[in-house]
Amino acid sequence: MPIHISSQRWVLETRQTAYAFGLNSVGLVTHHYWRARLPRLDDYPIPPDPSGFASTDGFHHFVPEEYPAEAGTKYIDPCLKVRFADGVRDAVLTFVDSSVTDSSTPELSIRLKDVYYPLQVTLHYRVHADYDLIERWVTLENLGTEPIHVERAFSAKWTLPPGDDYFLTHMYGRHLDEFNLQREPLTPGLKTIESRRIIPSHCAVPWFAIDRSANEDSGEVWFGTLAWSGNFRINAEVTEFASTRVSLGWNDWDFGWTLQPGRPLDTPPALAGYTKGGFGGASRQVHAYVRERVLPHGGTPHKVLYNSWEATLFDVDEASQSALAEIAAQMGVELFVMDDGWFHGRKWDNAGLGDWWPDEGKFPHGLGGLIQKVNDLGMDFGLWVEPEMVNPDSDLYRAHPDWVIHFPTRARTESRNQLILNMAREDVQEYVLGVLDKLLTENNIAFIKWDMNRAASEPGWPDAPGDPRELWMRYVWGIYRVWGELRQRHPNVIWQSCASGGGRADLGILRLADQVWVSDNTEATSRLRIQEGYSHFLPAITMEAWVTDWNEGFVPLEFRFHVSMCGSLGVGGNLLNWNDADRALATECIRQYKEIRPIVQLGEQYRLLSPQMGPFSAVQYVSQDKAEGVLFVFRVHVPEKYNIPHLYLRGLDPEALYSVEGFDEPRSGLAWMEAGLKVELKNLQSKILKITRI
Ligand code: GLA
Repeated sequence: MPIHISSQRWVLETRQTAYAFGLNSVGLVTHHYWRARLPRLDDYPIPPDPSGFASTDGFHHFVPEEYPAEAGTKYIDPCLKVRFADGVRDAVLTFVDSSVTDSSTPELSIRLKDVYYPLQVTLHYRVHADYDLIERWVTLENLGTEPIHVERAFSAKWTLPPGDDYFLTHMYGRHLDEFNLQREPLTPGLKTIESRRIIPSHCAVPWFAIDRSANEDSGEVWFGTLAWSGNFRINAEVTEFASTRVSLGWNDWDFGWTLQPGRPLDTPPALAGYTKGGFGGASRQVHAYVRERVLPHGGTPHKVLYNSWEATLFDVDEASQSALAEIAAQMGVELFVMDDGWFHGRKWDNAGLGDWWPDEGKFPHGLGGLIQKVNDLGMDFGLWVEPEMVNPDSDLYRAHPDWVIHFPTRARTESRNQLILNMAREDVQEYVLGVLDKLLTENNIAFIKWDMNRAASEPGWPDAPGDPRELWMRYVWGIYRVWGELRQRHPNVIWQSCASGGGRADLGILRLADQVWVSDNTEATSRLRIQEGYSHFLPAITMEAWVTDWNEGFVPLEFRFHVSMCGSLGVGGNLLNWNDADRALATECIRQYKEIRPIVQLGEQYRLLSPQMGPFSAVQYVSQDKAEGVLFVFRVHVPEKYNIPHLYLRGLDPEALYSVEGFDEPRSGLAWMEAGLKVELKNLQSKILKITRI
């Protein structure tokens, strides 16, 4: 049992790590340890007591409270801020009791209550011992009769071992340029990473990693993420007294929640872990957890798909799609996905969203003919939808102009000619559920790409039942509800989460979506960098990657394939323009991918050389049993005289003998890892080398 309780101290142990906290002498639930697991329970430090502070600072600057509420002389960044009905705005929480549920994933609950007001706060801890991860969230309950106004409710605060010499790694970006890594020193004060756009967005990622001197392969890293698909905030704080803490949860920008009696509020789960295995170790812990515990079909590798977007844009019909499907099938593609443009009134991006039935002009007999054709070619059929959106030029909007997010006195700002349906409303949810359910029931659809192509503006909800700012949360729950219901009704459908590329990639959506469209940027050399950033928190099985025609005059087709083969392979070029040699190469790459697919999608990933750091990059995947591996090596454009640095393989069984494609002599796993190997590449050349245990 990984949860230990003694005299109001709690130690959560995973395979390699421990997280400990307890009541100190003044009754505060205080954090005191998060690092390697220790041999004896008595080895863990005891909860720190307040001492030695001046009148200018509250003792919370020294004593790290597990879940501080705004109150008294706490000037640190709080997790909770409330306003009671009489206007009092601080919450004095005291410990009530704790309980444990014993199961394969044990859970600890700590109950706190305000000393005067009827506010109950329950801290939840779920221990994922096999993954060295701890999951936290909070339930707020109003035990009284009058509403309590919540102004901030984070999911967790993670406290680092004492010190102010840490570095924060996070990701930032923009459309077509997602998942850029940034590592920077944390200095006294607050550093905020956030989204205010209703989706996590391209600009920030709900993920962090903290280290002192870690590298890819070794060193201590504390890392975490929030399983939430909307506005979020990560606050990393260094106090004046050298204490470093990271809080995360719903963004409290434009936040408001009316906590009604009898209606508990659960915050989204925050997941965090600790490793001595560097950034690579941190990634692999989350990858395994996502594959095995989060994804709906995590153990099943994805099919090779073709997507028609970049080939035909909105100009889809049975003839154009059939022509592409025939070539795709010959190349070995297993799933044919028709993208945007197929539904009622959709000729360009200015009309049709909301009217999710086949366009009468393009598909006079419905989708059945095309689907049959695709199935006869031996492929599954998939379809693009953007269910949360509506074009003003649509039957749906003409019938329900009040269904969109808006302020009645303000112009409704369109973005890509579209407005956002208020998914917080039940009638909107029912419409979307009904129309998608019909589509899936009437057609043999195996895959849905669920897109979302704009951020929120004028975030009004005129008939909101409570605080209109609840929109930010209720919108996301509305999506979870509709998507979850569709999953239940159509359990075999595979779903992709897309938001103009990687704008909605998080552990919340991955309970519903099986994979993510990582970026609209499909140019292979930029994609290397985007994919590497993404891999810091999500596994290759979730990373859909197409081979397209971007930069085709410059970047060889084989290179483009190899880049996409690092994730879940797809093809998105205009196959009609591919000559016989291109098609033959594509057929061979797809054949090869099917061979290595279980290693890439279900194996462990090791980043050997970062494309964010230089022109050479390498990434390796190793099967769980270490019997097989595959090494991808890339060189973008640099002056000829430079050559690729030496590569040291990772993750092999040190004692076993391995052969590596292209090298005559087998060597021990340890030799490949310690002595390494050299791969010669010319500009814009790439190689895939199979690694086999003998
Ligand atoms: C978004 C997606 C693209 C494509 C288009 C269709 O931009 O990210 O992949 O589906 O929409 O309109």
